[in-house]
Amino acid sequence: MNQEDVKKLETETKIDTLEAVAPSPSLEQQLLLAAAEGDTNEVARLIDLEADVDYQDEEGVSPLMKAAEGGHTTVLAALLQSGAPWNAQDKYGYCAGEYAMGSGHQEAVDLLLDFAVQAELVLGALQRRMQVGSGAAVPNSDYLNQKLVYRGEQLLDAEGEAVMMGWERPLMVRHAELICPGSREADETTAITISAAAGEKDDEEEGEERRPAEGTEPSVAVLAAATAAAAAAAPSSEGGGSGSRTGVQGGQRKDGGRVLNVGFGLGIVDTAIQSYNPVRHTIVEAHPDVYEHMVRQGWAERPGVRILKGRWQDVLPELLAEAPYDGIFFDTYGEYYEEMREFHLHVPHLLARDGVYSFFNGLASDNIFFHMVYCRLISLELASKGLTVEYEPVPVGTLGDEVWQGVRSKYWHFETYFLPRVTHGDPLESVEEEGPGEGEGQGQVEGEGKEKAEEEEGKEVEGPRQATGPVSNAARIRD
Ligand SMILES: C[S@@+](CC[C@H](N)C(=O)[O-])C[C@H]1O[C@@H](n2cnc3c(N)ncnc32)[C@H](O)[C@@H]1O
Repeated sequence: MNQEDVKKLETETKIDTLEAVAPSPSLEQQLLLAAAEGDTNEVARLIDLEADVDYQDEEGVSPLMKAAEGGHTTVLAALLQSGAPWNAQDKYGYCAGEYAMGSGHQEAVDLLLDFAVQAELVLGALQRRMQVGSGAAVPNSDYLNQKLVYRGEQLLDAEGEAVMMGWERPLMVRHAELICPGSREADETTAITISAAAGEKDDEEEGEERRPAEGTEPSVAVLAAATAAAAAAAPSSEGGGSGSRTGVQGGQRKDGGRVLNVGFGLGIVDTAIQSYNPVRHTIVEAHPDVYEHMVRQGWAERPGVRILKGRWQDVLPELLAEAPYDGIFFDTYGEYYEEMREFHLHVPHLLARDGVYSFFNGLASDNIFFHMVYCRLISLELASKGLTVEYEPVPVGTLGDEVWQGVRSKYWHFETYFLPRVTHGDPLESVEEEGPGEGEGQGQVEGEGKEKAEEEEGKEVEGPRQATGPVSNAARIRD
C-alpha cells in the first residue's frame, strides 16, 4: 500500500465513521419533520417515495400527531389519505386528535374527527357484514356467570372490577330527572343544544411542553362541533311535543309516566326514577345475583315496578309489546358499542313520541378524543333513526384515589360527563306502526356519515362480538 492508498483509506474511514455517528435521516424521520413544519410539498414527495406513514418515533410520536399539533390541515389530509392511522397513540396514550386539541387547532380537530367517524362507520359496517350468520354468542357471558359482591356503594365482579360505583350517583339522579315525565320542564332549561353551542370557542388548558394537556377534555363547543351534523339534520323536538299520548298536556304529563331502565346495578337510577312516581317502572336485569339482590330489597313490590329477568336482548319482545315508554335509560355492563347500537335500533319503537331516552355515556372513557368520536358516531347513527341527541355537560370533578380504593381498575378519567338526551327528531313523523328494523332513516343526516349510517341500518347482527375496532369500544371500560 503506497502513501496515496493510505490517505485514501484514511479519508474513507473518516467518512464511514462520520456516517456512523450521524446517519442521514430516514424517509420516515424526514416525514416527521416535514409534517411538523407543515411542508405540504415535502410530505407529498416523501409519501411518493413510500415513506411509512405509520411511523412513530421512540416517543411514539407520528407524522400525523406532528401535523395535528401544528394545525397543518393539508398535511393532515394527505397523511390520512395515505393510510396514516388516526387512532395511533404516543407513549403517554395521546392520539393526533389530542395533539390538535392541546394546541387549540379546532380545524385540525374537526378534520380528524370527521375522518375518524367515517373510518369507524365503515369499519363497523364491514365487521357487521362479516359477522352476519356466523352464530350468536353472548358478549358478556363471562360476566353473567361470575359471582358478584355488593360492598357498600360498590358492586364488584369476581376480579374486583367495578360494575357500578356510588360516585356515579349525581349522574344517575340527573339521568332519571331527564327521562322521567314529571320533571320535563326543568330539563328544557338546562340541556345544552349542540347546534346552538357549535360556534363557541375552545378554551382548553395548555399542554406541558410538546405533549397535549393532561386530562384535556372537549369543551361543549368541541363536542358540539362533533355532533353538529346530526343535530342540524334531525330537527329538535324541544318545546314541541306531539300531544298525541294520553296524560300529556302542553308538553307536561299529569302522571308519572311509563319508564324503562335496562341494568339495575346498585339501583341508583331506579331509586331516583321511583321518586317521580311512575305509573309503570320496568326494570330489565340480566345477572342472577343482581336479580336476587333486587328481590331481597323488595323491588318486586315497589309501586309500578315490573322486573324482567334476563338480558334485554332476550326480553325484547316483551319490551316491544309493552312500549311505548315515556322515559328509557340504558346502562349495561360488559357489553360493547355494538350492543348499544343494536339497542338503539329499537329505540324509535320503544320510545313514545314525546319521550326521552338516555344512556350511560362511558364509551372510550380513557381517551377524550376517542370519546368524542363515539359521541358523534352515536349522534349520527341515532339521527339516521330520526332521533336527536343533545349532550349536557355535567361536572364530575377530580375523582381522587380514595374513590377507587378496593376497586381493581379506574374506569372514568374525565372531569366532565356528557349526559345524552335523546328525543324523536320530528314529532309529526310516525314509527309506531312499523316493526323493528323498519322506518329508519327518517331523520336525515346531512353529512359525510349519512350514506354509511343509512347503509347499515336495520341489519340484525348475529355472531360473536369482536372487540376488534381500532378504538377501545367497551361501554364501561376498564384499563
Ligand atoms: C352499571 S350497572 C347499572 C347501574 C345502574 N344504572 C345504577 O344506577 O345503579 C349495569 C347493570 O346491567 C346489568 N346487565 C349487563 N348486561 C345486561 C343485559 N344485556 N341486559 C340487562 N342487564 C344487563 C348488569 O348485571 C348490571 O346490573
